Amino acid sequence: MKITRRQLMGGAAGALLLPAGARAAAPATLRAGPVERQLAPEGYPPTALWGFEGSAPGPEIRLTQGARLERRLVNDLPQPTSVHWHGIRIDNAMDGVPGLTQQAVPPGGQFDYAFRLPDAGTYWYHAHNRSTEQVARGLYGPLIVEEPEGAPEVDAEEVLLIGDWRMTRDAQLSPDFDSLHDRAHGGRIGNYVTTNGSGDWTRPVRRHDRLRLRLINVANARIFELALQGLEGWVLALDGMPLDRPEPVQETLVLAPAQRVDLIVDVTAEEGDTAYLVQLTREGGLSQAAFPVAGQGAQARRPAPAALPPNPNTGLPEVSGARRLDLRMEGGAMGRLSSAMTVQGPKSMQGLMQDGLVWALNGFAGLPEAPLAEAARGEALRVMLINDTAFPHGMHLHGHHFREVQERGLGPLRDTILVDSGARREIALVADNPGDWLFHCHMLGHQAAGMKTWLRVA
Ligand code: C2O
Ligand code: CU
Repeated sequence: MKITRRQLMGGAAGALLLPAGARAAAPATLRAGPVERQLAPEGYPPTALWGFEGSAPGPEIRLTQGARLERRLVNDLPQPTSVHWHGIRIDNAMDGVPGLTQQAVPPGGQFDYAFRLPDAGTYWYHAHNRSTEQVARGLYGPLIVEEPEGAPEVDAEEVLLIGDWRMTRDAQLSPDFDSLHDRAHGGRIGNYVTTNGSGDWTRPVRRHDRLRLRLINVANARIFELALQGLEGWVLALDGMPLDRPEPVQETLVLAPAQRVDLIVDVTAEEGDTAYLVQLTREGGLSQAAFPVAGQGAQARRPAPAALPPNPNTGLPEVSGARRLDLRMEGGAMGRLSSAMTVQGPKSMQGLMQDGLVWALNGFAGLPEAPLAEAARGEALRVMLINDTAFPHGMHLHGHHFREVQERGLGPLRDTILVDSGARREIALVADNPGDWLFHCHMLGHQAAGMKTWLRVA
């Protein structure tokens, strides 16, 4: 079209007439930068951390299913960074993986994230560059997507970020983020466990209150074993995705790094007592969250909660004809690296160690140039995860949820699965989200030390 002078002027004049509010507003910022926080108990100095918007953990982002999330990441850190929106079946360009979906944002730079939230549930966001260090320093926060309708009726809801920090005696973060010893063992395990950044998280409740608890394991490498005391509980969702039927909490809840669980809990402890979310350790139980009981809420126990409404396109995949793949995990301390192991071409074991690469997937340490598989859009895949190492690994696939292939059928949808030392677990998924998707261990030091690959969906 030929633009005449009159049209051009009209267009320009028209723009000037727009009220100020009609111009696209800049998205809200998500500013990553240094912060201080009283993390250790009183009497200790505050801890220097990295956080978002002046807080570590970062602020809760809460939207309704179907909404668009828009944030401008502004990097005030001394290192490049990026943000990954863990568990969101996201537009690939917004997935936040440097080297695969975007460039890391340099200090002083910014990046606009904007995407739709297709699923309700409990998710989280975290730095995805040098994450062994950046997540250890506090760069993460909860991302809660509310059900537009069908949410359970509760007296209160709490989001509980279960964290693990490695602190020095003067309550600063131990700076050994790149420790090869940690990487070759269980990862960066801390010495100070918190809930929402507090060593003694407490919330008063009434007897028979019903709470929704959204638990997120934000730890670098620690697997949490949790139990309820003075609370009757049901699991409603795992990794954001609702179960078909709520499952009563029988014994322990195991949360690998990055995993989430949505619970409904009813307070059964007597008035004057305290109910607990307990962390089970070798030495016994520790309070992960304390609920002192005062007064009476409901008059009596309530019936078991109903299921959450299912998320879209989460039906059972047809997996009998699915393409089968193996993903063999090797390496680490007390493990072996097959002699065929390579990293960007054949290398000696010693060479790999010098690069800090001590883990391999299918004989390759680090991000391979070729994907684990190229899937047609909508293709069903089965991946056998074979843990040939002396450590457990929490494997996370970006952009998709999968189900475990179990003897009695397919398990619940998850985005992160814990595979114990020596175990084989098979997962099935429909590769229906186009793009390049990272698939890695969420023990973050393991990821940095080689445990990562990727999947391409055409
Ligand atoms: Cu929560 Cu690639 O990570
Ligand atoms: Cu691992």
